[in-house]
Amino acid sequence: MAVFNSSIVLRFAQMGALAASVVFMGASAAQSRDEQIAERLKPVGEVCLAGQSCARGGAAPAAAAPVAAAASGEFDVAQAYQTSCNVCHASGMAGAPKLDDSAEWTKRLADKGLETLVANAISGINAMPPRGMCMTCSDDNIAALVEYISGNGQ
Ligand code: HEC
Repeated sequence: MAVFNSSIVLRFAQMGALAASVVFMGASAAQSRDEQIAERLKPVGEVCLAGQSCARGGAAPAAAAPVAAAASGEFDVAQAYQTSCNVCHASGMAGAPKLDDSAEWTKRLADKGLETLVANAISGINAMPPRGMCMTCSDDNIAALVEYISGNGQ
């Protein structure tokens, strides 16, 4: 009787140990799965952030193209105007001086000077948002855009 009882106790002890080791294995399996997923995602993020084709990761995010264009040093002022400034400066929205209103631009150039217009375009003025919301535009890019809009560079 005593032998029988102790063997049952031993059984429970073995089952306990087995259950504990199953839980432990489950936890470590879950952890390594997360690590594998992170490892699989990593190269995709690196490729896309570098502004390259992202071919291995599928479709390129929309932000990749402008970043790549800015990094390459080529700045298409007419294209950037269309993308960032035209929405307000074509229609005169919220009092924006229109692209073709040369009298208005001549007046602003005479009153403030090109440098102030550039500084105001960079920091924003009244309803004009900082950098015209072109977050990839450098200060030099904005200066080129202001010359383009004001007709100074033509
Ligand atoms: C959300 C509308 C909006 C966008 C987008 C926008 N502008 Fe403007 N901008 C304005 C308004 C409104 C004014 C007039 C501000 C004032 O004089 O009160 C203005 C004024 C200016 C001025 C004259 C500043 C001065 O001191 O007289 C310049 C230069 C200018 N914008 C450049 C740009 C450039 C470059 C871009 C694109 C990168 C751009 N803007 C995008 C609304 C906009």
